[in-house]
Amino acid sequence: MRENEIVARGYDHIADVYLEWTTGSPLRERWLNELSNILPLRGDVLDLGCGAGIPVARRLTEMGFSVLGIDGSSRQIALACKNEPRAEFRLADMVSVSFPIASFAAITAFYSITHVRRAEHAAMFKRIARWLKPGGIFLASLGYRDTPGWTGEWLGTTMYFSHFDAETNITLVEEAGLVIRQREIIGEEESGKMTEFLWVVAQKPSLGL
Ligand SMILES: C[S@@+](CC[C@H](N)C(=O)[O-])C[C@H]1O[C@@H](n2cnc3c(N)ncnc32)[C@H](O)[C@@H]1O
Repeated sequence: MRENEIVARGYDHIADVYLEWTTGSPLRERWLNELSNILPLRGDVLDLGCGAGIPVARRLTEMGFSVLGIDGSSRQIALACKNEPRAEFRLADMVSVSFPIASFAAITAFYSITHVRRAEHAAMFKRIARWLKPGGIFLASLGYRDTPGWTGEWLGTTMYFSHFDAETNITLVEEAGLVIRQREIIGEEESGKMTEFLWVVAQKPSLGL
């Protein structure tokens, strides 16, 4: 099975468990508030790997953004449509989906790019940069440790993770033409173990790429 199919099937399988696990998330709330402060004029937001639509798509909608969420798991998309009917959701793989240049004021990707084969990450960041409007913001949690590719048991299903270390991620985001505004490595407890993510706020220069 290809890696994206492992991930989609896994999230179909654990959609309810994952939602319960992530309910009440001060860290997501904190970064969404950062985005809200940077973009007082609101606009369209693309949420990559939107999951069940809460808390991220719901919170962005409450803040006044128009949200399009995409996810590779049909079960997650079904839950998202039910949980946040004011937003739009589509079943799509972030690696192959495409949008016109300069479509979004912001693109968010919370805990999702770390499920994509890292050989795709440089191209993914470049496509994100193209889809952003000049001045637009990319807000994401990315990998912190070097993990070429890991498949194994996670939250009661088979899951796949792949990412670069934090410094390489920063370099790739910059090479995509985005300017890093904030970066922070934050540890979180996951099933009794500490795990870290690199949180990044990056901006497309106002003069465009
Ligand atoms: C850890 S969950 C995070 C969900 C949500 N962003 C949140 O913060 O709770 C990762 C989500 O990314 C989705 N995902 C992973 N790889 C994807 C891909 N290539 N294309 C679209 N969605 C993907 C999964 O289906 C899953 O719903």
